Amino acid sequence: MQLRGVHVVLSFLFRCIAADVDYTRFVNPFIGSEGAIPGYAYGGGDIFVGGTLPFGMVKVGIDTYEEAVNMSALNGGWTPKGKVTGISLLHESGTGGGPKYGFPAQMPLTSISEPINLLDNRTYWQSRVGDDSASVGHFRTKLENGVTVELSATRHAGIMEYTFLGGEKHVLVDMSHYLPHVSRAWDSQFYTGGEIEIQSNGATYTGYTSIAGGWNVGPPVTIFVCGEFNVPFQRAKAFSGRNTFPTGRHFRSFNNGSIPQPTFQGNSARSGPMNDRVGAVFSWNDTSPSQIKSRVGISFMSVEKACAYKNEELASWDLQKTAQSARDEWNRDVFSKIRVDTGESANKTRLALLYSSLYFMHLIPSERIGENPLWESDEPYWDDFYTMWDLFRNQVSLWHLIQPTYYESMIRALIDIFRKEGFLPDGRSGNYNGLVQGGSNADNVLADAYVKGLRGAINWTEGYAAVKKDAEVLPFYDINPVDPQGSLKEGRGALDDWVPLGYVSADRNTRCISKTVEYALNDFALSQIATGEAPGDRELYLRRSAGWQLSWDHQAVSRNFSGFIMPRYSNGTFEKTYDITNCGDCNWSDESYEGTAFEYSFVIPHDAKTMIRFMGGPKHFEERLDYVFKPNTSGVDLGVNGLGITTIMNIANEPDFATPYLYNYINKQYKSVQRSRALANDFYFNTSNGIPGNSDAGALNCWLIWQMLGMYPIVTTPVYLLESPWFHDINMTVNHDKTLRIRADGLDEEDGRACFYVQGVSINGVQWDRNWFEHGDMDIMTEGGEIKFQLGCEMKQWETSNVPPSPGHIVLDHELESP
Ligand SMILES: *[C@@H]1O[C@H](CO)[C@@H](O)[C@H](O)[C@H]1NC(C)=O
Ligand SMILES: *[C@@H]1O[C@H](CO)[C@@H](O)[C@H](O)[C@H]1NC(C)=O
Ligand SMILES: *[C@@H]1O[C@H](CO)[C@@H](O)[C@H](O)[C@H]1NC(C)=O
Ligand SMILES: *[C@@H]1O[C@H](CO)[C@@H](O)[C@H](O)[C@H]1NC(C)=O
Ligand SMILES: *[C@@H]1O[C@H](CO)[C@@H](O)[C@H](O)[C@H]1NC(C)=O
Ligand SMILES: *[C@@H]1O[C@H](CO)[C@@H](O)[C@H](O)[C@H]1NC(C)=O
Ligand SMILES: *[C@@H]1O[C@H](CO)[C@@H](O)[C@H](O)[C@H]1NC(C)=O
Ligand SMILES: *[C@@H]1O[C@H](CO)[C@@H](O)[C@H](O)[C@H]1NC(C)=O
Ligand SMILES: *[C@@H]1O[C@H](CO)[C@@H](O)[C@H](O)[C@H]1NC(C)=O
Ligand SMILES: *[C@@H]1O[C@H](CO)[C@@H](O)[C@H](O)[C@H]1NC(C)=O
Ligand SMILES: *[C@@H]1O[C@H](CO)[C@@H](O)[C@H](O)[C@H]1NC(C)=O
Ligand SMILES: *[C@@H]1O[C@H](CO)[C@@H](O)[C@H](O)[C@H]1NC(C)=O
Repeated sequence: MQLRGVHVVLSFLFRCIAADVDYTRFVNPFIGSEGAIPGYAYGGGDIFVGGTLPFGMVKVGIDTYEEAVNMSALNGGWTPKGKVTGISLLHESGTGGGPKYGFPAQMPLTSISEPINLLDNRTYWQSRVGDDSASVGHFRTKLENGVTVELSATRHAGIMEYTFLGGEKHVLVDMSHYLPHVSRAWDSQFYTGGEIEIQSNGATYTGYTSIAGGWNVGPPVTIFVCGEFNVPFQRAKAFSGRNTFPTGRHFRSFNNGSIPQPTFQGNSARSGPMNDRVGAVFSWNDTSPSQIKSRVGISFMSVEKACAYKNEELASWDLQKTAQSARDEWNRDVFSKIRVDTGESANKTRLALLYSSLYFMHLIPSERIGENPLWESDEPYWDDFYTMWDLFRNQVSLWHLIQPTYYESMIRALIDIFRKEGFLPDGRSGNYNGLVQGGSNADNVLADAYVKGLRGAINWTEGYAAVKKDAEVLPFYDINPVDPQGSLKEGRGALDDWVPLGYVSADRNTRCISKTVEYALNDFALSQIATGEAPGDRELYLRRSAGWQLSWDHQAVSRNFSGFIMPRYSNGTFEKTYDITNCGDCNWSDESYEGTAFEYSFVIPHDAKTMIRFMGGPKHFEERLDYVFKPNTSGVDLGVNGLGITTIMNIANEPDFATPYLYNYINKQYKSVQRSRALANDFYFNTSNGIPGNSDAGALNCWLIWQMLGMYPIVTTPVYLLESPWFHDINMTVNHDKTLRIRADGLDEEDGRACFYVQGVSINGVQWDRNWFEHGDMDIMTEGGEIKFQLGCEMKQWETSNVPPSPGHIVLDHELESP
């Protein structure tokens, strides 16, 4: 509590100093909105486009229906050419899998008579005219029917402005609207009921909707709504109709029936026992202004709360003012945390990449303090962790530095979820844990926060209990539709192998390769927290973190390299015929999830030392690392998702995020710089197709920010690898109000040649002879200071001291005996 107060004062002071630059003008909110096929979201970033605040609960934007349905990606609501089916307040950003949210909605219409059927969006959906416009906190589009739609948001409310050409003016409120998964049933959302009441004041409606399913196959999410129009409507009619949406999940619907016409029924409608669809339509006549505005508050708790948000956060009907407040908040709380020169001579593309990336990494999770419908608690509440598998790689480490208040709040919320529900989430959305892709990666998140000294009001006794539960208790099987062998909801579904065998087996569990690699790091994470919280446990988990070695087949050969993580049966033999460069569908029931054995064999951040030894020592390791960057080596066809990636190294997905930086571990940092720069230059652009794949809650965007800063964090440890910054001068606010300055002398300065190789580094004036430093070194990340890079054109092996540490280095007993 107190901390928050201090933070407010500090950010106020800070505002006086630094808020003069409007960084929002560099943000391109469309980066990642399109895939490799122009005009389609498919294979793109799946990002949200619309109005929102940093980690805002409300993300107001259009929902669309995109054809062809086999290439439909509705996850963020917005698609380049999709037809608008509604304007809704809850969205995710950057997620794969089935769409989640897209409710509650409104839709402006210019007719409501035949052939329009208010229960059938296909009769009223709208193409758009011209290009949409989006900026931080603001969105505008024009519909085919002539209505211009402008949107902005506060934390718990949205404001919509509909400018009609004249003629009929209607706003449809379809409480059964949600983002469907049009090509697949198992993780599609479905409607389970709602209610709407038109208030007698002639301007307001209230109600709720419940939508279940979606990406994490969750239970119904109920959201209360309070909407108001600035111009009193002349007519309003509530309606209901038989639910013909497919569910297949024990909610009453008439899947194969034809869509009925609505039954109008006065001022209110409720679903009742039949899960009927409900809604209302509001109409204005010719004499009313052509512009109708609406402000809508939402709450997971009650209609009263939804109305209070609407009234308090949107006291004015001025949408531009709301958008300006949003820009102010983004500038103050996000963009100004990383300040670079924005003057005339600055490279505008780089500014667009930096500030857009910062934007996308602050959209989810959603801060839902005071909005937890499940239990009462003094702890903060957050949702939409989508997912730790993505976030842990490097995003949480940046929040740690630049968003310490929000980040502490998130960690407390995670621990509170464990306290009340029994497990930390790996993914969580709609107030429900799931889906777990591999390990229990919240362990890594907590460890990263812990080793870097995040304390505040976090109860680390409970934090440790939470990660220990992941490591010790097999989660109850969730009867999920895609993995018959283990829970996808939370925890580690393959502990039944991991604990007795030390690795995840190929015969008793799915995804044995990727789970083995992830569980190993998870147990290392435990050992890190145990060091402070339960010293007696440290050895146990450190030892277990070497489990990946048991899954290493020293005889396995691929592309002339030997020694790989391989599928291993519970009887101890390896699956010799396994294809090391091709994981097949790389899906829930395969041996390796979203990455090949070739790739996962590099993902041992806690014990790079043993990994390098297993690969035959530094020379062979380097050759193998070089090889994964060679074109046309990939054994997997990533199709349209691959954006033309033909290397084994796949920058489009999280498992390989740290691979380009592994050269630091053989003191050839210049190669890390070379590889990572090449990837950034080849795959990141200020264009709608400017990120290599789903943004994954901003994980891909954050990868780029670290590179621009000239660092990369080794998560679960206090280590940062030194790389090469993209700007001459960066001032970064760390630990609430301290300044870390990163300078790069000599960058790009010789004959216009690309000169970004490190010649030398100093930290706080001390010459640095290692290509890494720790969070606490010279108090640089807590008190601020200066990292100064000397850059030049020469690829120089400048580092002369120890390679980065392998704090989880373990030599297993049987290893000692082998030659
Ligand atoms: C979608 O279907 C169309 C028409 O059948 C086909 O041409 C296209 O290749 C399909 N796209 C994908 C990604 O399968
Ligand atoms: C729109 O209608 C189609 C066809 O009935 C349906 O599949 C979809 O779920 C509806 N809703 C939206 C928001 O697309
Ligand atoms: C819909 O399904 C029900 C139950 O399976 C069946 O009796 C009915 O004939 C089907 N109707 C149509 C139009 O296919
Ligand atoms: C339109 O609405 C206004 C205000 O309610 C009312 O005075 C007027 O009579 C209405 N006109 C028509 C044509 O319905
Ligand atoms: C960083 O801060 C220093 C010290 O206040 C200042 O001189 C410098 O201009 C700042 N650089 C940028 C890019 O903001
Ligand atoms: C600006 O930065 C982009 C992205 O790094 C780069 O491609 C471009 O060459 C730079 N432009 C100039 C003039 O340096
Ligand atoms: C980024 O790209 C958008 C879309 O082309 C463009 O409008 C904008 O000016 C670019 N931003 C910068 C800073 O160059
Ligand atoms: C932390 O949680 C433990 C276990 O619930 C409790 O016993 C302890 O009092 C808590 N510590 C603080 C400082 O609240
Ligand atoms: C493996 O090595 C052999 C012998 O040196 C060579 O002929 C072959 O091309 C190599 N294969 C690959 C995939 O590099
Ligand atoms: C080990 O188990 C695998 C898979 O069940 C089987 O194919 C293999 O023959 C077994 N090996 C031995 C030595 O029992
Ligand atoms: C993964 O498996 C699920 C469940 O069977 C399926 O719906 C999905 O399309 C698969 N994804 C890929 C990329 O194969
Ligand atoms: C990779 O394969 C493509 C298609 O076969 C070919 O055009 C290209 O030249 C190859 N690139 C290299 C570097 O071998």
